[in-house]
Amino acid sequence: MLRVKFRSNVWAGRSAWYDRHVGIVEAAGSNPAPSTKLSKRGFTIGCLYRWKKIFFNKVLNMKVSEAVRTRKSVRSYLDKTVEEDKLLAVLEAGRLAPSASNRQEWRFIVVKDTETKKKLAEAANSQSFVAEAFVVIAACAKTDEHVMSCGQACYPIDVAIALDHMTLAAVELGLGTCWIGAFNEGKVKEILGVPAEIRVVALMPLGYPYDSSVTNKKRLPLNEIVKYEHW
Ligand SMILES: Cc1cc2nc3c(=O)[nH]c(=O)nc-3n(C[C@H](O)[C@H](O)[C@H](O)COP(=O)(O)O)c2cc1C
Repeated sequence: MLRVKFRSNVWAGRSAWYDRHVGIVEAAGSNPAPSTKLSKRGFTIGCLYRWKKIFFNKVLNMKVSEAVRTRKSVRSYLDKTVEEDKLLAVLEAGRLAPSASNRQEWRFIVVKDTETKKKLAEAANSQSFVAEAFVVIAACAKTDEHVMSCGQACYPIDVAIALDHMTLAAVELGLGTCWIGAFNEGKVKEILGVPAEIRVVALMPLGYPYDSSVTNKKRLPLNEIVKYEHW
């Protein structure tokens, strides 16, 4: 018999079975409480599951730095359904973003309808790839009224942060996105029935990329964009 300590919050979606069998196995007596006894079979199964979890964490849970490095604008999409849980995970990443005074004034319209997507692509200066994506998300702001004391309007910043969270979450899930800022706001509002006071900040196609290779980013070097201590 082995003495094991269970870490009950290891996995939010755990089952009682998981709690019973998967824990951090510690040398007998090294951490006596809380502890319980487990059969050798249970211990082996627990270890297998633990290693499986470690493996999948490594393979599937991409580091933020990796997502930042590999994200790119995707302008060609596969004709492939994006699973609902993936779509929700992307939206959830937006929901968790920070916003000025935590107002969370972003609102997202998820468009899957083929005809509506075509109309949106048309309104986006005829960027036809927009309609190729499984989903087009219209990122809106409830109001454009709030201005921070620094003089900056809150709404484009808040919506942009949420959208950027979403682009990175998409990369982790094997999906691609592209910011679309070139669109006619009036036309998009008409297509989607958006009320007058609501602003449409950006459109974002989301889908499986046709080409998921990593490309080199053309960016200015740090020494051109960073100054220390003063301008
Ligand atoms: C606010 C904003 C608006 C953009 N609008 C468009 C657009 O309308 N169409 C497009 O193809 N790309 C658009 N882009 C994508 C940029 O062209 C792209 O991010 C940039 O060239 C860097 O390439 P990368 O995203 O592959 O790293 C936009 C990006 C941002 C941040």
